[in-house]
Amino acid sequence: MLAGVKVFATRRYPGPAFDELDDVEVAPLVQLDAPRDDVEGLIVANEPVPLDLLPRLRIVANFGVGFDRIDVAACAARDVVVTNTPGVLDAATADLAFALMMAVRREIVVADRFVRSAGWSGSWSEGGLAEELSGSTLGIIGLGRIGSAVARRARGFDLRVLYAQRRRTDTELGEFRELDELLAESDLVSLHVPLTPETEGLIDARRLALLRDGAVLVNTARGEIVDEQALVSELASGRISAGLDVFAHEPEVPAELLELPNVVLTPHIGSATRQTREAMTRLVVDNLLAIERGDPPLTPVGG
Ligand code: 8YV
Repeated sequence: MLAGVKVFATRRYPGPAFDELDDVEVAPLVQLDAPRDDVEGLIVANEPVPLDLLPRLRIVANFGVGFDRIDVAACAARDVVVTNTPGVLDAATADLAFALMMAVRREIVVADRFVRSAGWSGSWSEGGLAEELSGSTLGIIGLGRIGSAVARRARGFDLRVLYAQRRRTDTELGEFRELDELLAESDLVSLHVPLTPETEGLIDARRLALLRDGAVLVNTARGEIVDEQALVSELASGRISAGLDVFAHEPEVPAELLELPNVVLTPHIGSATRQTREAMTRLVVDNLLAIERGDPPLTPVGG
């Protein structure tokens, strides 16, 4: 039990581990509108931390692997530890990337709508023919934990895997390409880099134009990695397709995308399985318990 450490959590995070927090207040961040000198632990889901209102804060336990909205340097300057949840969400996120690739390539959402609209009039498959996923070339941008999980899944679909990242690594998972080469050579491109000043706008209009006609872009990372307006233009032209789980201004989704048949849209659900979200809560709580005991945190950011 976290006796003595007051935790503020921006929601009741899923799973039984949350109940191990002895003294936890659950409320949205907006309700922290006055200084609170009792709060020592804060659980957020990639939300900005109001450090000035929390003079005794010791740990920010982020529910999620990405922490781009948390000012880690400002936390460090105040000796506040920041932790995240790496590892436990790799499978769920890689699964979703594959689900989006499959859905886009085989036009599953369009087909589902067709059946529901009672448009299907015979056993012969009506409409155009989709493009096959198996045997395609998949370009993975960022071969970290999640990108590697995507590459491992790709083997089962007989995909040829290319990868691009800052540092070329010695790996069996795929062949290294410079980013521009990868974009020009892939049938499917899946993004798995964190959002940082270096990756913001990485896939800009020039790079989108490098994609092959008919290519599929899948984004389960962060919307801001792509120039969203340029992406909307490419998609509206019908030249490429996309599976998008993340957007630059969530929960806003560009209105132009809503009517396009060549885009599959999901509401940032990469990690949203019961198993994964419960494991994320477990890790969040274990980090808080470690600080309570005076132990080093399990998964500090940058540690
Ligand atoms: C979560 C995520 O959906 O881990 C991440 O970086 O984006 C997702 O796992 C998010 O943290 C919860 O808002």
